[in-house]
Amino acid sequence: MKSYIVGLLFIYCFAVWANGECPQGSTQLGTEPVCIYAFGKMASYLDALWTCNSLNGTTVLIKSAFDNTAIIALANQYFNDNPYIGVQKSSDGTWFYADRTNLTYQHWAPGEPRNTSGNYQCAVLDPGSGGWRAVDCVTPRPYFCSSPLPIPPTTPPPTTQPRPRCDSEWEYFQSYCYYLHDYNGYVYSFNSAESHCADMNAHLASIHSTDEDDFVYNLVPWMSHSSCETVYAWVGLYGSGKRGDGEWTDGTPVDYSIGSSTIWGDWGIPKQKDGSNYCSSLRYDYYSTWLSHNFGRFVCKKRSIY
Ligand SMILES: *[C@@H]1O[C@H](CO)[C@@H](O)[C@H](O)[C@H]1NC(C)=O
Ligand SMILES: *[C@@H]1O[C@H](CO)[C@@H](O)[C@H](O)[C@H]1NC(C)=O
Ligand SMILES: *[C@@H]1O[C@H](CO)[C@@H](O)[C@H](O)[C@H]1NC(C)=O
Repeated sequence: MKSYIVGLLFIYCFAVWANGECPQGSTQLGTEPVCIYAFGKMASYLDALWTCNSLNGTTVLIKSAFDNTAIIALANQYFNDNPYIGVQKSSDGTWFYADRTNLTYQHWAPGEPRNTSGNYQCAVLDPGSGGWRAVDCVTPRPYFCSSPLPIPPTTPPPTTQPRPRCDSEWEYFQSYCYYLHDYNGYVYSFNSAESHCADMNAHLASIHSTDEDDFVYNLVPWMSHSSCETVYAWVGLYGSGKRGDGEWTDGTPVDYSIGSSTIWGDWGIPKQKDGSNYCSSLRYDYYSTWLSHNFGRFVCKKRSIY
């Protein structure tokens, strides 16, 4: 019987993919957010309702003349028998939709709905007349289901996470990126540290404001180590440390000083885990006499990517 293969026909030939939104095997009802399933395999009304419920729907809800015409067309196309529609009679005799809402549209065939000893509590669509007919609910018939058009998964808005402005392992601060080369068993001379930074298209860090000073200082973690050499971190000052004297390895002027009492030279940041500057009483220490010295850590700096 032709009606038995309707489901397959729907899947392969008649599913409307224009919106790509109705599940496979169903077709959209015009432009409404409704998907229609046609079942040629006959079932009692309760079984039909059960199947429709499993599709997140009900027996088909016909809510306008347009809906009715569309369902008639489908019924004419696929069914030999009049299919169940989602219209039921309550015990008080009123007809309602299968989702328990009141009818907002009805299109009964002439003489319908018939009241045959009160048993006619379901309805079919008669494609011949285009009207609805009251019927008993137990006779197996084909049926239509309708279900809400699934809401397409909302694609999350493009992540507002900003693009990284620094290479990984570099820290961003005010248009520049900073890299701490932490102690890893080796120590570096001032020139060697600078050339390691140069290998990364950077220079040893220069410092031009209190904020930048704090940033760089805080970039270097406390460290407890037996040797002060490994504790210090090179930055790029080469000179006496007085404003306007000497320069930073990145060529910038010495336009900032952390204090008049501080004598700067080729200097580094001493940090001890206990919070005291065991290796120096100064935040930055002067190492012009240590030019031949090696430190375990250094801070590089370069312009951020954007
Ligand atoms: C079932 O329909 C409701 C709306 O009636 C919808 O919110 C829900 O996402 C649907 N569930 C599935 C699995 O389609
Ligand atoms: C449905 O119809 C009944 C009786 O006709 C009425 O009392 C009720 O308010 C209606 N419900 C809605 C939601 O319109
Ligand atoms: C429908 O049939 C039932 C049972 O015979 C009867 O009680 C009821 O009054 C009828 N309703 C109408 C509208 O004829």
